Amino acid sequence: MPQDSASRGQWKSRIGFILAASGSAIGLGNIVFFAANAYKFGGGAFYIPYLIGLFAIGIPVMALEFGLGAFSGRAFPETMFRIAGKKGEWAGWWAILNAGFITMWYITILGWVIGMLFGAFGTLWEPSVAIPAFGMEEGALGNPHAYFFKMLSSWWPVIFVIIIWILNVIICRRGAETIEQATRIFVPLMWGFMLILIIRGLTLPNGFQGVLLLFSPDFTVMKDPSVWKGAFSQIFFTLSLGFGVMTTYASYLPKKSDHTSNAYVTSLLNCGFEYIAGLAVFSLLFVFAVVPQASTLSMMFFILPQGIAQLPGGQAVVAGFGALFFILLIIAGLTSSVSLVEAFTSSIRDKFDISRKKVLAYTGVVGALGSIVFALPMVVDPNLKDDGTMGLTLTDIMSHWNFDYGLLMVGLVECVLVGWVMGADKIRHALNENSKMKIGPWFDYLIKWVIPLMLVFLLGWDIVNEVRNGVYGMSFNDNYAEGFGFMKFAPVISIVVWLGGSAIAAAIFTMKGSYDDPA
Ligand code: TRP
Repeated sequence: MPQDSASRGQWKSRIGFILAASGSAIGLGNIVFFAANAYKFGGGAFYIPYLIGLFAIGIPVMALEFGLGAFSGRAFPETMFRIAGKKGEWAGWWAILNAGFITMWYITILGWVIGMLFGAFGTLWEPSVAIPAFGMEEGALGNPHAYFFKMLSSWWPVIFVIIIWILNVIICRRGAETIEQATRIFVPLMWGFMLILIIRGLTLPNGFQGVLLLFSPDFTVMKDPSVWKGAFSQIFFTLSLGFGVMTTYASYLPKKSDHTSNAYVTSLLNCGFEYIAGLAVFSLLFVFAVVPQASTLSMMFFILPQGIAQLPGGQAVVAGFGALFFILLIIAGLTSSVSLVEAFTSSIRDKFDISRKKVLAYTGVVGALGSIVFALPMVVDPNLKDDGTMGLTLTDIMSHWNFDYGLLMVGLVECVLVGWVMGADKIRHALNENSKMKIGPWFDYLIKWVIPLMLVFLLGWDIVNEVRNGVYGMSFNDNYAEGFGFMKFAPVISIVVWLGGSAIAAAIFTMKGSYDDPA
């Protein structure tokens, strides 16, 4: 459906745009995924590939996505249609629908955080919650493990997930206008909360030791391609790249905006937040003499809360910091999830003559149903691992597919289409026209050769490993998911639903309706 820019929505000011874009970028990825990944790869080993990823991939692709939005003034599928016709459009929808899967599990995690927030005022910290949940012995776990499992084994998360979806729909109700209103409050609040956590963390007895871990590079681990893949995936995820979210946000700015500097400002704000969040997390982790192993989810739901539980100053302090931490996660997550919801809504509205209200209502219902699937008690496998962390959830598996493959795959397709079909120089010239900082021809090589080749290598390397070691690093004979018939097949079922579902749905969206001729 042809819409003029007024009916598509506009940011009121450049600040509004920067707040919204950095609000999209700053999310769970910055607070927990970064720390969990950095920790997994030995802290110091992580940040050199990470910084290289930021400057060689992150900022250029951010500029590219902003440039695309300015170039077309439209959301992602129509932008891709103008670059590469129907095939491009299909790739655009495929990316948007892939982002839909991310939105679903991302919101499930936020729903769980609401549950933790309720617990923070009492039960979460109690030494023992009676938990014969998932057939576990009573008292088998200490808190907050026990609290978390008890919550997961109940139906409460279904309600929490619905609440988060309702909040998303409310914030997106008038598009850019209402998103800007929300981010003007949430983004500054987020920075404030994070500063409080950092100050508390760094002034703890062992706090500074955690920071040292994050600062001391270990060059030997850098020979391992998985460190590089982890770092690059993290860059794509944390900057909200690859899925056309940033293109949609940029399409709400006047065409004449300085998007090169916008790309720098947004990326550096995001990674600045991420880095200081790392300081807070690592210092809190070092409240323990020995830092336990942590996957992303266990980091968020029990390792960090355990650190908070040991804060000096008594019950009220623990409850206060606990609540602060969970509220921070919720608002940071909300400003991210709304960007995903908006990118989808906007894509539909650019093509089909359906009111925003209706699109949001359908998106909300379908999205909530998807998130509920991730929140069901039967898709959690709580088998304990030797290191005391929990087993898998369907969310873990889906985030593995999305994080380790989806992000890099759509990034690859994006760079190939823009670099080879459209010509990266076109976007570069469009960016340079309105920007003080001029981008040189190196940009074209980066988009055409360097980034795609790196991504192909890392994806190929990962696929080989996955095939060798079994899906998700485990064979079906592992004791994982023993008691759960469904979970045993979850890795395979989820990849079929994810790849097949998004491919078919993308084809349907591409075939129905039509755009005006590219102007
Ligand atoms: N960047 C967000 C985070 O760090 C997550 C996110 C929002 C995202 N929008 C995205 C990730 C689009 C990938 C694509 O938590």
